[in-house]
Amino acid sequence: VFEDSQAASKAIAKEIAKLIKVKQSQKQPCVLGLATGSSPKGLYAELVRLHKEEGLSFKNVVTFNLDEYYPMEPDSVNSYVRFMKTLLFDQVDILPENCHIPDGKLAKADIADYCSRYESKIEVLGGIDLQILGIGGNGHIGFNESGSLQNSKTRLVALDHITRVAASKDFAGLSNTPKTAITLGVKKIMEAKRVILMAWGEAKSAIIRASVEGQVTNQVPASFLQEHNNATFVLDKGAASKLT
Ligand code: F6R
Repeated sequence: VFEDSQAASKAIAKEIAKLIKVKQSQKQPCVLGLATGSSPKGLYAELVRLHKEEGLSFKNVVTFNLDEYYPMEPDSVNSYVRFMKTLLFDQVDILPENCHIPDGKLAKADIADYCSRYESKIEVLGGIDLQILGIGGNGHIGFNESGSLQNSKTRLVALDHITRVAASKDFAGLSNTPKTAITLGVKKIMEAKRVILMAWGEAKSAIIRASVEGQVTNQVPASFLQEHNNATFVLDKGAASKLT
């Protein structure tokens, strides 16, 4: 638990930078699982600062984003492609071919095949070294909504009403907000060697308590992380305020 999200984001960036350097020294790729949304913005700003001011190189970094709305054009203002390029990829020396984000433009018939290839790419690299997560108000991780199974695969999902309401401010109303998304499944998240879930503010405190201290249940997918052997919830004081 950190005083505020800025201090917390810096600490996470420091851990990521260390991992990138260890992997560099081993001449290995560093495979990062990345999230979008408001929670990781401070983290990406700090990683950009470490690149620009302290020479951290991302040349050996390979990234896999958790999710993308479907359907979604990559150059739309609300696409996660646009988000990642603006906040991270275009500001560091990562190779474009090393950045993976689920494709929101696929024909529906091609999605299942695409999702299994997305997972294969992760497997070929030896799995995700470090997975960054935010958490939805209903406990979703990625877009694995309530009811998602612990062994769920990467797939097309229906977004919960609460998720769409949270997103509707970016889409100028609920009627313009996508109803579906492609998400990395819970299984690949649980297979990551290290998981860091970030949450800021009191509004997240009830779901953080349910995830950390409640029962492990598919009604709160973040609670699955209780069974991960190297997962940390990084919180500010507000998000931690209901923990006993
Ligand atoms: C985004 C994602 C989502 C968000 C979650 C929290 O890639 O996977 O699970 O992490 O909806 O969003 P924020 O951080 O905006 O509260």
